[in-house]
Amino acid sequence: MKVLVVGSGGREHALAETLATSPLEPEMYAAPGNVGISRIAETVDIPVDDLVSLRDYAADNEIDLTVVGPEAPLIGGISEAFWEAGLKIFGPSRAAARIEGSKVFAKELMRHAGVPTASFEAFDREAAALAYLHAHSDYPVVVKADGATAGKGVTVAGSRDEAEEAVRASFAGKFGAAGERIVIEECLEGREASVFVVTDGQDILPFLPAQDYKRAYDGDEGPNTGGMGSYSPIMWMEPATYAAILEDIIRPTIHQLALIGAPYTGLLYAGVMVTETGPKALEFNCRFGDPETQVILPRLGSDLLELMIAAGNDDLAGREIVWSADKAVCVVLASEGYPESSSSGDGISGLENIPAGVYVYHAATEEREGRFYTAGGRVLNVVGTGPTIIEARARAYAAVEQIHFEGKHYRTDIALEAIELEEI
Ligand code: AMP
Ligand code: GLY
Repeated sequence: MKVLVVGSGGREHALAETLATSPLEPEMYAAPGNVGISRIAETVDIPVDDLVSLRDYAADNEIDLTVVGPEAPLIGGISEAFWEAGLKIFGPSRAAARIEGSKVFAKELMRHAGVPTASFEAFDREAAALAYLHAHSDYPVVVKADGATAGKGVTVAGSRDEAEEAVRASFAGKFGAAGERIVIEECLEGREASVFVVTDGQDILPFLPAQDYKRAYDGDEGPNTGGMGSYSPIMWMEPATYAAILEDIIRPTIHQLALIGAPYTGLLYAGVMVTETGPKALEFNCRFGDPETQVILPRLGSDLLELMIAAGNDDLAGREIVWSADKAVCVVLASEGYPESSSSGDGISGLENIPAGVYVYHAATEEREGRFYTAGGRVLNVVGTGPTIIEARARAYAAVEQIHFEGKHYRTDIALEAIELEEI
């Protein structure tokens, strides 16, 4: 059995490592992969948006299953390209991936499905959006570019001035075509969580929720980033809340996609806000979350590869995922300047003798003559596991201290709130 992972980050390293441990003993391939992935897979230097070359590579190498990490190829239609060539791929069609590719599409789908979410209006003209803000008195509001912007297209605007500025910037081309339409929505208050399910378009197999940390600095200060850390499971979430997320948010969304002729297959990621009046959907993503995947997969007791194959064969009914009792905490090590800029070429030491129970996933590294160097913003993801969050966290941070490179920075408060809850 041959498995190809598409992507090059810490998420894909975690995916590749987890898939490689399958009892099906797959031969692993990755495009383009990274230094960490190259330890366990044959890597080929094809960019994730070169769908034709990826398809040809999979066909030429008789790949049995392709697993896609990032959203761009899915939104671009990689699944159809593979299916048309008779190749198996784990991921949604282009039509279903619009749930991440267009916020207007996602919000309208939620409205039709009756999914609880922030109230909203969509605009494709600046004047109409500004007129709406003028008549609106309840701030903050959230202004979102319609298309995929790697998280940069969302502004939580505390005042009308700020909201107007975000609207003007979007229509002036700040996000290119992605900002030619916008959503203005109610600002929700509560706690955020990420919930993933594997689905064949009808049945779902839920993963346990994870918490991610998007802001650059401790105490949730500073700019948004691609993610500075995560932990799982989330102790603060009541089982009834989790059940409501599955029944009231995820199931109706999957049902609605099937109804409109865009059945969803693959992994669906719901970003939810747990508010005083229950959970509400913030957004959907058509792929695994980064860095949530890095704390979910090490806790998986079931065979991920078998689940993915089952999803492709409409064979999820009656299955359940087995979870290890361990907890997991991920701390992202970033390079100097991240997220405004990043630095590259700094030597990394301390990657030898990583203790048991700790996983180090590569996100942006390079290897030259047997030495590791930084190669971008988020460099390494250090995951500690253990029977309690306290132990998992202690292991993660001990490894963080063991690894060195010039300009290394990280948040020191990942999963801190979870420890407090664990003590209660
Ligand atoms: P999104 O890409 O839609 O998930 O937005 C990115 C981040 O912006 C989310 O993770 C939230 O922290 C924040 N956000 C988005 N929509 C809202 C909302 N309606 N109310 C409050 N915060 C939001
Ligand atoms: N962790 C946020 C995301 O993957 O979009």
